Amino acid sequence: MPGEGALPTVGSPAMSVLTLGPDLVVPVDHVVGQCVAVLGIRGSGKSNTAGVLFEELLAAHYPLSIVDIDGEYFGLKERHEVLVLGGGDHADVELTPVTAAEVAELSLREGVPVVLDVSDLVGAEREALLLDYLSRLWALAGRLRTPYMIGIEECHEFIPQGVRTRMKEVVVRIALRGRKRGLGTVIISQRSAKVEKDVLTQAGMLFLHRVVHEADMRVYGELLPWGKAEVKEVVTGLRVGECVYIAGAEARRVAIRLRNTFHGGYTPAFHPVESPKLRLVRGRLLEALARNPLPPAQDEVPAVGDLALSEARTRETMEGEEAVSELPEPVALRVERLLRRLERLPPLERRVVAFLAAREPRAYTVHELAAWIDCPEALLRAEPPHAALELGLIACERLSRGPTYRGTVRPYVEEAFAPFAGALGPSGLHGLAHHLRRRLADLAPAARDLTYTS
Ligand SMILES: Nc1ncnc2c1ncn2[C@@H]1O[C@H](COP(=O)(O)OP(=O)(O)OP(=O)(O)O)[C@@H](O)[C@H]1O
Ligand SMILES: [Mg+2]
Repeated sequence: MPGEGALPTVGSPAMSVLTLGPDLVVPVDHVVGQCVAVLGIRGSGKSNTAGVLFEELLAAHYPLSIVDIDGEYFGLKERHEVLVLGGGDHADVELTPVTAAEVAELSLREGVPVVLDVSDLVGAEREALLLDYLSRLWALAGRLRTPYMIGIEECHEFIPQGVRTRMKEVVVRIALRGRKRGLGTVIISQRSAKVEKDVLTQAGMLFLHRVVHEADMRVYGELLPWGKAEVKEVVTGLRVGECVYIAGAEARRVAIRLRNTFHGGYTPAFHPVESPKLRLVRGRLLEALARNPLPPAQDEVPAVGDLALSEARTRETMEGEEAVSELPEPVALRVERLLRRLERLPPLERRVVAFLAAREPRAYTVHELAAWIDCPEALLRAEPPHAALELGLIACERLSRGPTYRGTVRPYVEEAFAPFAGALGPSGLHGLAHHLRRRLADLAPAARDLTYTS
């Protein structure tokens, strides 16, 4: 029985250590709720070290989120089941304010490891999204109190020394006060002197890679229990992948092993680098996402705190449900006829329709759609949902990122049921579209009942 205030343990006893290098093995418990700092100049091996730490944490079934600024961590999928949220080719789920918020909750609640690839985003958009993501983790962690790690690359951008921002407030709070909630952090930076001092001096574990600037050396001097000359001698002698490891009273020079998984930030060389073979995220993760309450559609997302808007949506929904309990007979007949027709479609197509309708008007690439509904991508390409496309319940558009599908129940209803608009009561065609989406959801077979052999 854990004692009062103790956090649950992670991983199995057999996997309770993190093997970071030939002479560096750390008990997993030592990083629970800890602030871990990885510092050093460009190319000194920070991201590799952080990557090794993440690999080991993943192998120990320790859930985490990595804020990936340069798209360096998707390669973890080579060996681990990690959900990549982003805009690039390797993303499992497209990164939007809505998916980010959903995924933050799912990740912590269900222990799903996430790489939050924000390499396509800049400025205010990136800031708002990360702020929301991290704030949600913080709030939920207060209730769940389960071990969880948050990795942040280029952290001097988020917790700059001597500057106050909302983002800094949130990150510093997590780094300094996250322990009681189970939250640990891995902060990575090439600008030691520009990172908030309070965080560095409070970090319980540090990996100090090579630095050369006097300002950075001074920071190392404050962190290491050695004389100035010794600090300089040891630190300037560090090679790529070597660092000074500090934990508690221990401070020693160590070598970190190379990542086992593809490092997106490797230094290009003249020999060719093979593309990594990435694991597809299992349907379980995405099913878990789908189990979460549906967010508002992307173009209707209320601003944070805009309760009036969400309440209006709730009212609309209720009105829609009330109105359709008494559909005019000719409308009810048409709806039933449509549903009977859809019932005869192959299970995969019914699942596609139900999924897209529920998330209308969000668009999904074939890759994303296949992952969400847990079906082989090749099958979806070989057997596109022709009938639903012809009916106009879904649409397919060719965008630069490839063919994308989206639900079109609303325009379908507006066209097919236009003559009945007046007879449909106060919620009109909107209520009918809502009703139809719910009926479509009932038609979808569960993923576990699907076989893809036919
Ligand atoms: N422990 C190691 N053993 C062997 N090679 C390593 C090791 N660590 C890093 N490298 C190699 O050195 C190069 C730079 O490493 P890495 O990307 O981790 O540096 P970085 O400090 O994160 O750089 P930046 O600040 O530019 O992000 C990479 O090609 C990486 O594979
Ligand atoms: Mg790096």
